[in-house]
Amino acid sequence: MADEKEVETTGHQWDDEEGYPLKEYNNPLPKWWLYSYYATIVYAVVYWVLYPAWPIPGGEFTKGVLGWSQYKQLDEEMAAGVAARKPFNDKLAALTTAEITKDSQLLQYAVSAGKAIFGDNCAPCHGSGGVGSRAGGFPTLVDDDWLYGGTVEQISETIHGGRAGQMPAHLDSANGSFTAAQVDDLAQYTLSLSGSSTDSAAVGRGDALYHGDAGCNYCHGDSGKGALLGSAGGEKLDASIGAPNLTDGIWLYGGDAKTVRTSIANGRNGKMPAWATDTEGTNRKLDELEIKQLSIYVHTLGGGK
Ligand code: HEC
Ligand code: HEC
Repeated sequence: MADEKEVETTGHQWDDEEGYPLKEYNNPLPKWWLYSYYATIVYAVVYWVLYPAWPIPGGEFTKGVLGWSQYKQLDEEMAAGVAARKPFNDKLAALTTAEITKDSQLLQYAVSAGKAIFGDNCAPCHGSGGVGSRAGGFPTLVDDDWLYGGTVEQISETIHGGRAGQMPAHLDSANGSFTAAQVDDLAQYTLSLSGSSTDSAAVGRGDALYHGDAGCNYCHGDSGKGALLGSAGGEKLDASIGAPNLTDGIWLYGGDAKTVRTSIANGRNGKMPAWATDTEGTNRKLDELEIKQLSIYVHTLGGGK
């Protein structure tokens, strides 16, 4: 064969009795491949020397002469983040909320920090962005209708200490002392406050109970405007009772006849956990700065008034 001569062999050859020598061909790897291969070996050795690489007995590992580690890098980056936020946080901590609201840059910072804290801690109940949930009696925080007040100070108080709404049961089988018919009347009267009652005779009877034997007015106010806005017998009510406004068509649990009746018959006990103190051992405790940022954020949700 003519081109046989051009093929490189290793020089090793087996003699064949019929005169055809069996030769071992040499197929060298391409040079570029070979040098790349050597380069990776050199790279690996240099890497082992410079960086953490091999496990060694005793649960240790070779540390590398540069002293670099992922943990150290993370720590440094975290420290840089904390340092970048520090001037803002120091200012926020030092200023009153009223002063913060006047500084648009600080306000923006507080709101975005508060939003993140809200997503981590509050959204499971209040919904993302604070839309609330009627099924759980979790109030929406995005309107300007408040149980306990919507100033930054009142919101901050709510977050610090938590709140417990105590609406007593009224149906006698649910620890109350009113008959089913009376509860129906009270429900009709309650519905009439937001213009959705269907039985005017029942409304009249419910009215008498509301301002009389049942004493609903001592929590919800003579005109049903709630503990925050209402008054009873000429006296302003204590907002910390948290009795909702029954006249505005905004409902914590629902404003259909059945749900309103259930609220009155069985009572309601919405509980907002306290965040400043970890009394029950279940909450992640928020620090003062976090609560401040949250209060400012929640305040902006409700219209910021
Ligand atoms: C376990 C569920 C739950 C979590 C978590 C929760 N809340 Fe609440 N929150 C409630 C309930 C229930 C109420 C209503 C209390 C009531 O019915 O009296 C409430 C009420 C409030 C109110 C008062 C609203 C008003 O109308 O006055 C504010 C403000 C509030 N929550 C903010 C927060 C913030 C901020 C967080 C996160 C730190 C948070 N909540 C976490 C359940 C929760
Ligand atoms: C001791 C104070 C108190 C009394 C008395 C009281 N309530 Fe309430 N009521 C509340 C509170 C507080 C809530 C909110 C419960 C919660 O936060 O879970 C509430 C909630 C309600 C709700 C649910 C409102 C919604 O938005 O879903 C209705 C309806 C209601 N009350 C009607 C009445 C009627 C009618 C009476 C009289 C028979 C009455 N309440 C007596 C404090 C009171």
